[in-house]
Amino acid sequence: MAGGNALGVIRSLIGKLERDKPLVGRALSEAVAQIKAAADARSVELAEIMRRDLLEAERLDLTELHEAPPLGRLHVITQTQQRLEDVFCAMGYTVAEGPEIETEWHNFGALNFPPGHPARDMYDTLYVDHGPPGSTLLRTHTSPVQVRVMENQSPPLYVVAPGRCYRQDTADATHMPVFHQIEGLVVDDGITLGDLAGAIETFTTAYFGPGFTSRLRPSYFPFTEPSAEFDVQRPDGTWLELGGCGVVHPSVLEVCGVDPERWSGFAFGFGIDRLAMLRYGIGDLRDLWTNDVRFLEQF
Ligand code: PHE
Repeated sequence: MAGGNALGVIRSLIGKLERDKPLVGRALSEAVAQIKAAADARSVELAEIMRRDLLEAERLDLTELHEAPPLGRLHVITQTQQRLEDVFCAMGYTVAEGPEIETEWHNFGALNFPPGHPARDMYDTLYVDHGPPGSTLLRTHTSPVQVRVMENQSPPLYVVAPGRCYRQDTADATHMPVFHQIEGLVVDDGITLGDLAGAIETFTTAYFGPGFTSRLRPSYFPFTEPSAEFDVQRPDGTWLELGGCGVVHPSVLEVCGVDPERWSGFAFGFGIDRLAMLRYGIGDLRDLWTNDVRFLEQF
C-alpha cells in the first residue's frame, strides 16, 4: 500500500470513529509531521555523506608524484654559443646577427672575391633558386655579417656574430653541411695586427682558462691582409687549429662605406661545433644532430 494512499485510508477510518475523533486526528497529524522531519534530517545527512564519498573518490593527491617530470635543456651547441657570447661581451663586444640566406654580394663580392676568383672554390656553396642564377645562396661563413655591420653602423665597432653556415659537404665525423661559426669584427682608430693577436690571446685565456696560449700562422683570405690561421696550444703542448683571421682589407672597408684612410680593423672567424667537440670530448659531429636525448642530456 503506497504511503499517500495509506494516509487516506487512515483518515477515512478516523472519519468513521464514534468518539475521540479530533484527538486521534491530531495524533495522526503529529505522527506524520514527526516522520517528515526525521526523513528530511536523514536526507540532509545522506547528501552530506554522498558529497564526502564523491570528493574522496575524485581526490588528486599531488604529493603522491615522487619523480619530477623530465625538464628539457639547451642544446650543447647553444650552450657553447652562449658561453662564447659571454666571453666576448665581457671583452666589450656586442652581438650582431645576419641572414642565413644571403646575397652573393654580401657573402663574396663585398669581401673581395670577384666572380670567378679561385678563393671561391674554398667554399662549396649551396645556391638558392631566387633571383638571377647565382645571386642568392646559403651563407658559407659568418663573414657577410661584417659587411652588414659596416654598412649599417659607423666605427668604432666591436662586434661578434654567431650563427649557422652551410656548405655542400658530405656528413662525416668532423664535417656537416650545416655548421656554426662565430665572427669577430673590430674597426677603430689605428687598429693593427698586434691588436688582433692581443684579442685572440685574451679570448683564449678567457674561454679555455689559464695555461692555454695562441699563435698566428700566415694564411690567405681575400678580405683580410695580412691573413692568418690561429691555433690554440693546450697545457699539454699540443696545438689545435681554430679559425681564420686578419687585418680587414682596405677595399672591404671602402665598399662597406668605411673610410680606410681614417679607420682600420681586424676580423676573425671560427667554428663553434669543433670547439664544442673539443671542450666536451664529442667524437662525432653527427651525434649533435640525431636528437637522441640520452646523448644530449649529458651536456
Ligand atoms: N670566413 C673565413 C672562413 O670561414 C674565416 C675568417 C673570418 C677569416 C674572418 C678571416 C677573417 O674560412
